Amino acid sequence: MCPMNLCLISLLLILPLMRGELNFNNDLENHQKFKSVPTTIKTYENDTVLLPCQLDTPFHYVRWHRDDVPLVDSRHPEIPPPERVVLWANGSLQVSNLKSEDTGDYYCEIMSNSNHAVQVHAIEVQYEPSVVTEPSGVLELPIGATFEVVCMAMGVPQPAISWRLNGNTLDQYSNAGNRQSHIFEIKSRSMAGLIECLAANGVGQPAVAGVQLRVLFAPEPTLPHPVVYTKVGDRAQLECIVEAAPAATLQWFHYGVPVQMGAHINSQETELAGSHALDSYVSLVKHVLTIKKVRDADMGQYECRASNSIGFRSATVELTGRPMPCVFKINPGTQSSTSHVLVWQTESMLPIMEFKLRFRQIPSANITRPVKTNWTELTIPAQVTIGPIYITSYTLHGLQPASLFEVSVLARNSFGWSDNSKTVRFATGGEVELPNYSTESELQYDATEEIFENEITQRSHIFTASMTHNRATNCVYNTLVYLTIFMQICLAMRYT
Ligand SMILES: *[C@@H]1O[C@H](CO)[C@@H](O)[C@H](O)[C@H]1NC(C)=O
Ligand SMILES: *[C@@H]1O[C@H](CO)[C@@H](O)[C@H](O)[C@H]1NC(C)=O
Ligand SMILES: *[C@@H]1O[C@H](CO)[C@@H](O)[C@H](O)[C@H]1NC(C)=O
Ligand SMILES: *[C@@H]1O[C@H](CO)[C@@H](O)[C@H](O)[C@H]1NC(C)=O
Ligand SMILES: *[C@@H]1O[C@H](CO)[C@@H](O)[C@H](O)[C@H]1NC(C)=O
Repeated sequence: MCPMNLCLISLLLILPLMRGELNFNNDLENHQKFKSVPTTIKTYENDTVLLPCQLDTPFHYVRWHRDDVPLVDSRHPEIPPPERVVLWANGSLQVSNLKSEDTGDYYCEIMSNSNHAVQVHAIEVQYEPSVVTEPSGVLELPIGATFEVVCMAMGVPQPAISWRLNGNTLDQYSNAGNRQSHIFEIKSRSMAGLIECLAANGVGQPAVAGVQLRVLFAPEPTLPHPVVYTKVGDRAQLECIVEAAPAATLQWFHYGVPVQMGAHINSQETELAGSHALDSYVSLVKHVLTIKKVRDADMGQYECRASNSIGFRSATVELTGRPMPCVFKINPGTQSSTSHVLVWQTESMLPIMEFKLRFRQIPSANITRPVKTNWTELTIPAQVTIGPIYITSYTLHGLQPASLFEVSVLARNSFGWSDNSKTVRFATGGEVELPNYSTESELQYDATEEIFENEITQRSHIFTASMTHNRATNCVYNTLVYLTIFMQICLAMRYT
C-alpha cells in the first residue's frame, strides 16, 4: 500500500493518543513553559526541516518520537539516530532529505530541573498528484453497455478528483460518496471519446489520466438515392453507404433473393474518410451495385443488408422505369381572376403518356368557417416531345376569384405512375389574404393518396380546362431557368 494513503495517515494520527508514555494532560501548562511554538511544516521531498524544542530554562535531556517511533534521546548519544535525522545541542531536531515516510507528528519531550514538558510538531511532505484509471487505454463497448471507470489518485495532501468527458466536466456521480469511480451508460454514439480523471491537490500541476471510449453500433445504412430511375438497356447503379463499428459486411438482395454477382451485376466498395478524428474507428463505406445493362427482370426493390457483430440493418432502394416526381414551376406573373397557368417538369427515360392533376380550394383568411372542398382530378394527355425532360404547361379555367388552391400532379409512362409531386398552393387574382401556413409540410397535411382517391367526386367537366401546351411550353422553357430562383423567392414572400 502507498505510504501517502489517507487511511494510513489517519491511523498514524490516532496511534500516539493511545500511548501512555507521553503526558498530554497539562497542555496549557506545557505551552507556557516553551519558547518554541507547535508548528506544522508543509514541505517537499528532499527538503530539510528543523523542529525546535526550547524551554525558558536549560534542560537536562530531550528526546523525540515520530508518532510512536522513538528517534533520538540525548541521554543515549551512543545509539545512532536514524538516517537523515540529527539532534542538535539546543534540542532542535533536524530531518534532512525528506521522504514520504517522514510525514507525521513529531513529539519533543524535554526535562529541566523543574519541568517536564511535551510539544508536538508536524511534517507533511507534499507530493504532486499522480493518477491512473482502470480501465485505461482504449475501451470498445456497444450502445446500451454500462461500465465503471475507477480513478486512483496519489499525492499529499489527498488530491480531489474530477471527471471529464470529451473536455466537458461531469458533475453527476453515480456513487456520490466515492469520487474515485464513475459509472457510465452508453446511450448513443455521441458518447464516444475521451473519459478523463483529473486529480489536483494544490501541489504542482493537476494530473490527468483517461480512457478512450469507442462506441460500437449496428450498421447504419443510408441511401443517397432511394429511387433510381432507369430504363431497359441502360447501365444503373444502386448506392448504399454504411456506417458501422466494427466494420460491416454487406449483401444485396433483389426481392429477398441474394443478388448473384457476375458479368451482368457486380458490386464495389470504397472506404470514405471519417469526418471526425475521434470517430476514426468508425468505418464508412460506400457500396455500389452496378447493373451493366438493365433488363426488365432487374427492375424492382433491392435491399442492402449490412451486418456486424452488434447486429444488422437493411435499407431498400428501388430500381424503376417510372417517371420522376413532377416539380411545379409556378408562374408568378399576374393571372386572371378565374384562371391559372400551371407549369411543371418531370424526367422520364420512357416517353410520358399522361398526367393526373388534382387540385382543390383551400380556406383563405377571409373565410371564417374552414371549408374543405373535395379534390378535383384531371387526366391530361402528354404531348409528343422528346425526353428525358418534359415540361408541361396547363391552364385551369373557371376558378373562383380571390381564392386559394392547392395542386399536385403525377406522370405516367409505359412503366407506371410516378410518385406524387409536392403539393403547392396558388391564388387566383383579386384580393386574397393568405392564412398563416408556415411550412411546406403543413401544406401536405392530408394530401395522402387515400384521401385523394376517396374524395374524387367532382369531375373535370365542372371546370373548363384547356390545353395550352405548345405555345406555353416554348415560352416557358426559355425563361424557366432564369425565373426559377426568382419565383421561389416570390413564392416564399407571398406565402409566409
Ligand atoms: C528528490 O531526490 C530524488 C533522488 O535524487 C529525485 O529522484 C526526486 O525527483 C527528488 N524530488 C524532488 C521533488 O525534487
Ligand atoms: C539550534 O541549533 C541549530 C544548529 O546549530 C541552529 O541552526 C538553530 O538555529 C538552533 N535553534 C534555535 C531555536 O536556537
Ligand atoms: C374574400 O374577400 C374578397 C375581398 O374582400 C372577396 O372578393 C371574396 O369574395 C372573399 N371570399 C370569400 C370566399 O368570401
Ligand atoms: C366530398 O366528398 C364526399 C364523399 O365522397 C361527399 O359526401 C361530399 O358531398 C363531397 N363534398 C363536396 C363539397 O362535393
Ligand atoms: C397570423 O399570425 C399572426 C401573428 O402570428 C396573427 O396576428 C394573425 O392573426 C394570424 N392570422 C390568421 C388569419 O390566423
